[in-house]
Amino acid sequence: MKREIALFGAQCLRQACAQVAVVDDAIRALVADLFDSMQAAAGVGLAAPQIGVLKQVCVVDVTAHQPNHQPVVLINPKITGHEGEQIGEEGCLSFPDLYGDVKRYSWVEVEALGLDGQSFKTAGEGFYARALQHEIDHLDGKLFIDHLSPLKRQLMRGALRRLKKESQAKASVIY
Ligand code: NI
Repeated sequence: MKREIALFGAQCLRQACAQVAVVDDAIRALVADLFDSMQAAAGVGLAAPQIGVLKQVCVVDVTAHQPNHQPVVLINPKITGHEGEQIGEEGCLSFPDLYGDVKRYSWVEVEALGLDGQSFKTAGEGFYARALQHEIDHLDGKLFIDHLSPLKRQLMRGALRRLKKESQAKASVIY
């Protein structure tokens, strides 16, 4: 089911998420909602806190950019290896129409649980590596704007303030 995506300013985006103890039907339903909501918004990744669920679950689908990587479900993900650096433009479904250059590792290896509850590893570079790092950040309450240069953040100030207002106006309805 498609869920409403929280906008910058919503408290759920700034919380550290709890580890998932058991991958059960509730988690599988959450993952289905994440995919539905991400696809409806034409995103390349979505994390549970963005739909108001404070659990360490996210999905990434970069097949449009890197067809060698299948859509992936990450439960309790941890970055277990990294190499190099890349700087590239990044956005986020919680910040419609806002983009900024973010420095990330150019390659990462991530260990997580899959939908079957089994541990697995996934690794990749470029856009896929960037998407993994962005989504894992969400699970710690970290957002891409935290990585921007002070100047860029300054330039975004007005837009961020408008987003915050919009999300606070919605807050009474959604959360
Ligand atoms: Ni995001």
